[in-house]
Amino acid sequence: MALRNPISHVCKHALSSSSSRASAVSHFVCSRQSMPRRRAMATVVPPVTQDATSSKGPTAMVFMNMGGPSTTDEVGDFLSRLFADADLIPLGRLQSYLGPLISRRRTPKIQKQYAAIGGGSPIRKWSEYQSSEMCKILDQISPETAPHKPYVAFRYANPLTEDMYAQLLKDGFGGGKGGRAVAFTQYPQYSCSTTGSSLNELWKWRTRLEGKGSNTDPSGSITWSVIDRWPVHPGLVEAFAQNIEAQLATYTPETRKDVVLLFSAHSLPMSVVNRGDTYPAEVAATVYNVMQRLKFSNPYRLCWQSQVGPSAWLGAQTSDTVQEYVKKGQTDLVLIPIAFTSDHIETLYELDQEVIHEAGHPGVKRAESLNGNRVFIEALADIAFKHLQSGESCSRQMGLRCQGCKSERCLESKRFFVGQENLLAVR
Ligand code: FES
Repeated sequence: MALRNPISHVCKHALSSSSSRASAVSHFVCSRQSMPRRRAMATVVPPVTQDATSSKGPTAMVFMNMGGPSTTDEVGDFLSRLFADADLIPLGRLQSYLGPLISRRRTPKIQKQYAAIGGGSPIRKWSEYQSSEMCKILDQISPETAPHKPYVAFRYANPLTEDMYAQLLKDGFGGGKGGRAVAFTQYPQYSCSTTGSSLNELWKWRTRLEGKGSNTDPSGSITWSVIDRWPVHPGLVEAFAQNIEAQLATYTPETRKDVVLLFSAHSLPMSVVNRGDTYPAEVAATVYNVMQRLKFSNPYRLCWQSQVGPSAWLGAQTSDTVQEYVKKGQTDLVLIPIAFTSDHIETLYELDQEVIHEAGHPGVKRAESLNGNRVFIEALADIAFKHLQSGESCSRQMGLRCQGCKSERCLESKRFFVGQENLLAVR
């Protein structure tokens, strides 16, 4: 399956216990009784309109992700940006030559793949829906930081980071007026090639659009904080578990407990893994927490998809795993995309139209992606709420660079985001 899907190798905090609202949201997000609790809160806390500004608001909530071309016409530009990203695809001194060459050669094939899933990626639609719905909940549960305004910033597709930042400035954030924004990664598990790359890009455009001087004299520029990872949030785990249970329910009671659960995440080049990237450990943490929630009801494995090219990648590969199990007579398998929060080409094309189709057995299925899942969106609101309450600019973990990191971009970007904590303290 190598080289079949070049796009895919890309990817290739605490509340005061005395706060009744805090306590309520913590419960509503993580329990199966979440919806009644949320409705109850809505009667206690009046909604905040987008015209009302609270003591600490407004707050820009920026969802960061890799993005995907919404139409086949956008594939070329998407691939071009993707292969130009040295954080994602390190091509060394030849990056500016090889990147455009590879992207041009692959565009027609990838356009066909996007055409096969309906003509474009649904990631923008889902990102805009998720961020908007999350902000509505935040306006209810965190009126002091309301209104919460949703933004999406993609690394390789529209809306690009620079477009998002320009819109922020146009909407009255920064540009001498100050303001507060949260960069919320939509990769639950941190990797320097995904979240790290998006943050480096955000730092770059912040410096360009608000001026280099804003780093030494930040008055009037946007104060940023980052939600950089959330691999074991109970709401995330619950949403995954419910989708798995729904798919398991389609098997007969006699066969159900023997269905193998195959968690699938984007692979990484071993050069990135060996540099010290935290992604493999964080993906494994998500898997283990989901299995704990399921009471280890089924056998399971974690495998890795979308590797490309001749270099060594983290395995075992998802496609090989399915083939090997089917060959061994294990034909009841549920694939679970565990590292992405909505459908994208790696689920709709690579898993559904390649891996599952080629397995040729009706027992090989896939759990639904999170997409518009209400439990998941409530989890996003809980993660954001706790972050806003914490006063932290990012996790303690984010400040520590990979042991093998030689990137000046990482150094400067991390220094900037960690340093934002001093500004948050005086807000
Ligand atoms: Fe991980 Fe730079 S590559 S911090």
